Amino acid sequence: MTTADTPQPSRWESIDELAAAVRSCTNCDLHTTRTNAVPGSGSSKAQILIIGEGPGFNEDQQGLPFIGRSGKLLDEMLAAVPLSREDVFITNVVKCRPPDNRDPLPDEVAACRPYLERQMELLNPKVVVTLGRVSMLRFHPTGKISEDHGKILEWEGRILFPLYHPAAGLRNPAIKRELQQDVLKLPEAVIASDRISAGSPQTTEIEEVQEETPRPSSQPGEATEAEAQLSETLLKNETTEEKEQGDRQLGMF
Ligand code: URA
Ligand code: SF4
Repeated sequence: MTTADTPQPSRWESIDELAAAVRSCTNCDLHTTRTNAVPGSGSSKAQILIIGEGPGFNEDQQGLPFIGRSGKLLDEMLAAVPLSREDVFITNVVKCRPPDNRDPLPDEVAACRPYLERQMELLNPKVVVTLGRVSMLRFHPTGKISEDHGKILEWEGRILFPLYHPAAGLRNPAIKRELQQDVLKLPEAVIASDRISAGSPQTTEIEEVQEETPRPSSQPGEATEAEAQLSETLLKNETTEEKEQGDRQLGMF
């Protein structure tokens, strides 16, 4: 179906042109509540594309991705590799802030999909780093963040490297520790991408490129799937009252 309202990915010839289309997009209801759309930022030559879930309060105010507390943690983790924002491109699954920082709805993700798809085509990254569950599920619908975080996977001829969301790390020290350890494998993920682009057959199944040392899925001090999900959700809350409530709930684990 092609109507005047349907975004036509091939129309956007550059990252900047696409960003302009995002800023004036009205293809889902999120446009009615946004202050600024957040197309993404970084180098258009980046080999690493980092994908979060959707803009939060600060990002919506400024029109830039990951500039709040999660962004600060992300910057610190990248610096450990070492990488800076100029070495990567950072964007989100949905480009406009979901009200009250709720998860984006499936029809919002679908409406916004052509933008992320075209960003992937234009940037052609070797490594796609997903932050959090919503972003991972966009590429790996059967994945489980508590099991798949930090795995170097092959996805359609690229490396998919799912990580916990930094917001979850801010909420939960065990998740933060795992996230920081996982990020240290990013150089390995880039090296693995050279191996697959150097000729191994392209698979459509998600496959682990590199076996990791097996680890039990819930060893003391490791986050469970429920805990990871809850941590992501809770840190979206920005009022003190909600933060306290979140802390109380996490105490239940
Ligand atoms: N969380 C996200 O998923 N994306 C941002 O840009 C900021 C916070
Ligand atoms: Fe358009 Fe995406 Fe924003 Fe929805 S979230 S209005 S599809 S840019």
